[in-house]
Amino acid sequence: MTVHLRGDLGAGKTTLVRGILRGLGYEGRVKSPTFTLLEPYNFSRLYLYHFDFYRFLDSQELEDTGFREYFNPQSVCLIEWPEKAPGLPPADLDIELHVIAEGRAMAITAHTEVGRRCLDKLTD
Ligand SMILES: Nc1ncnc2c1ncn2[C@@H]1O[C@H](COP(=O)(O)OP(=O)(O)O)[C@@H](O)[C@H]1O
Ligand SMILES: [Mg+2]
Repeated sequence: MTVHLRGDLGAGKTTLVRGILRGLGYEGRVKSPTFTLLEPYNFSRLYLYHFDFYRFLDSQELEDTGFREYFNPQSVCLIEWPEKAPGLPPADLDIELHVIAEGRAMAITAHTEVGRRCLDKLTD
């Protein structure tokens, strides 16, 4: 499953990923992948990959990371700044974050059947 995280710097994208990992039971450190492009998490049968393309330079650099192999039916890919990396696999879910007075507002859009099933669970 592929999730695109949208929103300005400071909108809360990394914090949301941290919350998702905590919610899934991951207790280790969750760092921002701003400088590494990717932080991988493999725990309890889950392959979760956290990308951040903010500092991303060109599409050859992207291909050189071999990132495509991370997108497979067994993995969950959460991507900050997807708009900076053209050619990414399309999103099952788009999550857009905005700063509001008391915290953050989030708009979630499902683009595929997998995305719709996930969104249905969230809104149950
Ligand atoms: N839901 C939230 N409520 C309050 N503060 C938040 C929330 N999400 C993030 N923050 C704060 O906003 C700052 C930026 O968050 P971060 O997740 O790094 O943003 P981004 O990854 O979008 O640049 C951090 O100090 C973080 O603690
Ligand atoms: Mg971030």
